[in-house]
Formats: sequence, C-alpha cells, structure tokens
Amino acid sequence: MVRARITGTGSAVPEKLLTNYDLERLVDTTDEWITTRTGIKERRIAADGEYTSTFATKAAERALEMAGVSPNELDLIILATITPDFPFPATACLVQNNLKAQKAAAYDIAAACSGFIYGLSQADNAIRCGSARKVLVIGAEVLTRIVDWTDRNTCLLFGDGAGAAVVETVEGNRGILSTHLHSDGSHWELLYQPGCGSRNPAVQKTLDDRQVFLKMQGNEVFKLAVRAMEDAALEALTANGLNPSEIDFFIPHQANRRIIDAIGKRLGLSDDKVYVNLDRYGNTSAASIPIALDEANRTGRIKEEDVVLLDAFGGGLTWGSALVRW
Ligand code: ACO
Repeated sequence: MVRARITGTGSAVPEKLLTNYDLERLVDTTDEWITTRTGIKERRIAADGEYTSTFATKAAERALEMAGVSPNELDLIILATITPDFPFPATACLVQNNLKAQKAAAYDIAAACSGFIYGLSQADNAIRCGSARKVLVIGAEVLTRIVDWTDRNTCLLFGDGAGAAVVETVEGNRGILSTHLHSDGSHWELLYQPGCGSRNPAVQKTLDDRQVFLKMQGNEVFKLAVRAMEDAALEALTANGLNPSEIDFFIPHQANRRIIDAIGKRLGLSDDKVYVNLDRYGNTSAASIPIALDEANRTGRIKEEDVVLLDAFGGGLTWGSALVRW
C-alpha cells in the first residue's frame, strides 16, 4: 500500500529570548500570572534581519539532511504561515529559492495554528494520488511582528520559529494513517489580524487604529479549542479503529498548558505521552507542532512503529488531526 511517511524533521528558532520577567517591564503582568494561566515561561523573538523565511529555510535544511533528500528531488513545498515575509509572493517561493529546489511547486497556506496539519494533509493526498513523491511541509511564523506589545491579553502568548517535515512515498504500514481537517468561519472574529488586507488596507488610519495587530478573545477561543481538539483526536482514533490507550505519543498545538492538560485528561493519557514545550517557546502558531515533533524525534521520545497523534486548533476557526505510525 502506498503511504506518505515523514522521513526527516527539522526546526529552527531565534536566539533572542524574552522571559516573563522581561514582560513584567513592558505591560502590567507578572511571571506568576503568565505561568499559572498559560504555562509559558519564555519565548523566542526574531531579531532585525530575521524573517519567516529565515527560520523556514533553516528548519527545512535540517529536515532534508535527516531524510537524506536533496532539495532538487522535492516535488512540492507547502509552507503554513499567517506571518509571511510579504503578502505575496508566497514565502514558500522564497524558501524554494533559498534551498535551490528548482523542480518543486511552492505555495503558502493560511490556517493559523492548524496550518501544519493542513499542509501535512495536502502532502498526504498529493503522495497517495501520485502527483508528488517527495514533499516538504513547513510551519513557520514571526508572530512577534504582528503582536501589540501594549496589549497584555495577547503579547505574552506568542513566539517565533519554524519546523519542517520531509514527507515521502513509501510502501507498507508506517506513515500517515489519516488526516482530518475542519473549519468554522462563523467564529472568524475571535482571532484575527484586522489590518493590511483588502478590508483595512495599509493606510495611516489602519496604523493609527492599531489594526495591524493580532486580536483575540482568549477565553472564547479557549473553550472552543478544548472541545474541537478532543473531537479531532477521537475522530482520528475512530477512523483507524483505535482506542485512546493505543496512542503512544501525543503532540498537541502548544497554545496553553491548561488546554493541553484538559485534552490529555479527556483522552486518559499519562503525562509522559504528551509533549509540552510551550514553556520555552510560547505559541508559535503553525510552527508549534513541527517544532515539537522535531524535538521529540531527535531526542528519541518517538520510537519506530509508535502511534503518534498530532492535534491542532487555531484562527479561522480551523482545527484538525493527523494520526501517524512512526
Ligand atoms: N497579566 C495579568 N492579568 C491579566 C493578563 C496578564 N497578562 N491578561 C489578562 N489578565 C486578567 C484579565 O484582565 C482578567 O481580569 P478580570 O477578571 O479582573 O477581568 C483575568 O486576568 C482573566 O482574564 P481571561 O482573559 O479570562 O484569562 P484566561 O484564563 O482566559 O487566560 C488566555 C487568557 C491565556 C489568553 C487564555 O484564554 C488562552 O490561552 N486562550 C486560548 C488561546 C488559543 O488557544 N489560541 C488559539 C491558537 S492562536 C492562533 O491561531 C494564532
């Protein structure tokens, strides 16, 4: 049976650190509030001269090296981001140029924090229908450039970075078992960037009204996230005839420790099966799952044949899961 298998992972984050103590000096907050309400202790911030394509390219190079795939073998580059280098061209095209992956078609997708799962699903479909054999999927963000550093409700949550996976055509049982994607546009206003699109173009008024910055109704998003991520996890298990106890490793989107703990509890997973790194990176949106996947892979936390569940939720609203036999 033809399957799509992840044969290499990579990640890259900025060197610059911003701790909760640094934030105490910027807005009216405390390390204690941030830690107990979110689980975040620090996040990485892109420096001047570092862009989404900078981290995307580095993460991609590391994933390609692990897979032993050369850039000119790639058929497709899918880059998930809501913070592209430019509105157009696609940041995927900039990465294609950096990698010198001449043969690859390259495009971006915007599904916020679910973007990597959306990209993985497209890679899986392209491989199983035979239109591609080697696909690079990247999740990359420089969210700190659209964060309002005067808004304590949002500025402490986000960080920058990228993660990537090389997905290849294989025969056998190992690989992506299923992906499930969902959206509910009726809640688009819960989490969005008002400015710099066709509704509120980049004119002085948009800047003056602070519309270039991300807005979020955090507690509404929180409630919907827990339910949707649990549903997506159970949907993946049901589709594959598995029980929650058969999950070997769970990599949820890293938005809030309380969301992760609630889903882990609902699925009956012990803490050692749930990967958490948001204490170090905050919410890196589309980059969060592939950074976590790369860390878990490189440190040997995921073993061959493990059943790994990836589960995401984000602006759109969008959500979805991917079940993988590693
Ligand atoms: N420091 C101190 N107090 C604060 C801060 C702060 N930084 N921020 C808010 N508060 C106060 C509020 O003013 C409020 O005070 P009040 O009760 O006197 O009014 C109180 O703390 C509670 O505020 P809530 O907003 O209700 O806090 P909540 O527990 O919901 O936590 C948070 C907020 C962390 C944002 C949480 O709702 C969350 O994580 N939401 C989900 C985010 C998410 O999953 N996003 C999806 C993906 S992101 C993407 O797609 C790009």
